[in-house]
Amino acid sequence: MTQRRIFVTTALPYANGNFHIGHIMEYIQADIWVRFQRMMGHEVNFVGADDAHGAPIMIAAQKAGITPQQFVANIAAGRKPYLDGFNIAFDNWHSTDGPENHELAQAIYKDLKAAGLISTKVIEQFFDPEKGMFLPDRFIKGECPKCGAKDQYGDSCEACGAVYSPTELKNPYSALSGATPILKNSEHYFFSLSDPRCAQFLEVWTHQEGRLQPEVLNKIKEWFAKDDEGKGGLGDWDISRDAPYFGIEIPDAPGKYFYVWLDAPIGYLASLKNYLGKKGLDYEKYINDPAVEQYHFIGKDITYFHTLFWPAMLHFSGRKTPDAIFVHGFLTVNNGEKMSKSRGTGLDPLKYLSLGMNPEWLRYYLAAKLNGRNEDIDFNSEDFMLRVNSDLVGKFINIASRAAGFIHKRFAGQLSAVSTDGQTLLDLLKASSSLVSGLYDSRDYAKALREVMRLADRVNEYVDQNKPWELAKKEGMDARLQDVCTTCIEAFRLLSIYLKPVLPHLASQVEKFLKVGSLNWQSAEQVLGAGHEIGQYQHLMQRVEEKQLDALLTPPEPVVEALIPGGEAIAPTITIDDFAKIDLRIAKIVDCKAVEGSTKLLQLSLDAGEGRLRNVFSGIASCYKPEDLVGKLTVLVANLAPRKMKFGISEGMVLAASHADEKAQPGIYILEPVAGATPGMRIH
Ligand code: MSP
Ligand code: ZN
Repeated sequence: MTQRRIFVTTALPYANGNFHIGHIMEYIQADIWVRFQRMMGHEVNFVGADDAHGAPIMIAAQKAGITPQQFVANIAAGRKPYLDGFNIAFDNWHSTDGPENHELAQAIYKDLKAAGLISTKVIEQFFDPEKGMFLPDRFIKGECPKCGAKDQYGDSCEACGAVYSPTELKNPYSALSGATPILKNSEHYFFSLSDPRCAQFLEVWTHQEGRLQPEVLNKIKEWFAKDDEGKGGLGDWDISRDAPYFGIEIPDAPGKYFYVWLDAPIGYLASLKNYLGKKGLDYEKYINDPAVEQYHFIGKDITYFHTLFWPAMLHFSGRKTPDAIFVHGFLTVNNGEKMSKSRGTGLDPLKYLSLGMNPEWLRYYLAAKLNGRNEDIDFNSEDFMLRVNSDLVGKFINIASRAAGFIHKRFAGQLSAVSTDGQTLLDLLKASSSLVSGLYDSRDYAKALREVMRLADRVNEYVDQNKPWELAKKEGMDARLQDVCTTCIEAFRLLSIYLKPVLPHLASQVEKFLKVGSLNWQSAEQVLGAGHEIGQYQHLMQRVEEKQLDALLTPPEPVVEALIPGGEAIAPTITIDDFAKIDLRIAKIVDCKAVEGSTKLLQLSLDAGEGRLRNVFSGIASCYKPEDLVGKLTVLVANLAPRKMKFGISEGMVLAASHADEKAQPGIYILEPVAGATPGMRIH
């Protein structure tokens, strides 16, 4: 067998949040495949990275009062516990903001330009005059042009489902500043995907045998299709964004940056380059080697980018294209809604680990559901218990626990020869080796595990027929007992090989217990053999308990009951992360005015160290006169969404204390810091 050389990636997660269970599923799917290929003796480089760029991350960083680089570094620092926790063994984890990606993206762009596939066009877009930036669709809000619902995003209405362009919104405002956006022209750079060369190339590329799953190819056909008037089909792709933007500068285009989705997939190559560099290996030589196979695991929502843009970018910049794109579906939890892309829902991976739940239960369960197609998968609690407890522990682990004790106690840990009936069983197990390996290779883990469980059933039937616990009590049956238990141990070893891609930690415990070296696929052709001494059996895996699943899936109990005497109940418990979402700043009250037409409100001009003043309306007119407040410091909720009020837009809120029953105990007291605090300081 010739050794394959394989380069594998998973999609690069946006660096604006922690991993959720959907990310973990994707990594587990890829990790199983990588581990399997390595067991086959192939060479694999498996890399990931954070997708660092784009407007949302830039804006989130701004709100947090830190640089986007720092913001992304904070997220990156939190990745390891997830990956280690679920035995996901990337060779490298990098960032699309690393130097390799800047260089590669600019090089690929220059090559595309030289190929005549970059064009420019002036487009009209909403611009926030206060922030001085063009607004991405999701940062423009307004009233739905169809149903009139308020506060809808620039691309679609959550109330009636209408889809439109931001310029159609009624009374649009910037979600960043509250300002009314203006239309402004800007020159944008485009990748000319409508060039006939692209359609021609992609037509062939996508249809190549083994390149795409059939269901994926069908979807792509829709994207290619033109209507009777020749409209539709592949359109040019807008690849530039104007400063300010967190991204990679476009060469010879001052103030223009690559749109995040241009440099994101290039991040695959950047992470590889970074990794090979650390190992002192030649990136160019590796990536240009026709023998190297390249695969990307992704979710179905990002198919367009990976099956059209990405291969076209690579091909027309004179580079090698991926051999296949492996698309999976979405994971839901107990038939819940599709989880939010950034937050996820329901099943927190770190909570899973902190409850002491075995990561390999989840690996096994997800593998049992993944069939290599792009269907959605549901995490179902009952199903999870059943598969882990009945199949994994009940059928597989039990084989070892039923046999190992006798070998240890009665035969000093020594295995014997196996007689004909046992050998028949072992031969049956061995005969499935290529079926199971073929199923792993085609990512039909569900079927692979069904086959392994079918084999485990056969082994358990053999145990039930031979009843070692009875043999142990009978005179003169020692040799048979040792033979039967040896058969079980040999069988257990074979099944452990077949399960090793899914259960790497368990497999390494089995290797210690059986006193064998690292098991690979070839190991299935050997036996431990008579005279081999095994170690003492220690329980390899617990069963899942229902209460663990309950704890996992129940949101934390809010603590509400405790009442402060005569006061207001303490609000439900939040985490430090919830608290960190509120950006509280020291602000100076530079000016304060009464509001004409309102007896409640005062209008404050606040300096929160931003180089501009904030306008805030506050309901404190009953307790303060404007001149009492001018010059004082107070606390501003700086990242509260701007609110349009009758008298103008309020850009935040100042903190003030009052009694729950304002009538009985009137009085409003605004917060003032102890001397020394200055405007802009964050309150932690
Ligand atoms: N940053 C882009 C990918 C750039 S690749 C060059 C992105 N990031 S993401 O964080 O939103 O998603 C990362 C991966 O997680 C994608 O493959 C996506 O399909 C996958 N999933 C996100 N939610 C998921 C589920 N609920 N279930 C399974 N996978 C899901 O897209
Ligand atoms: Zn609507």
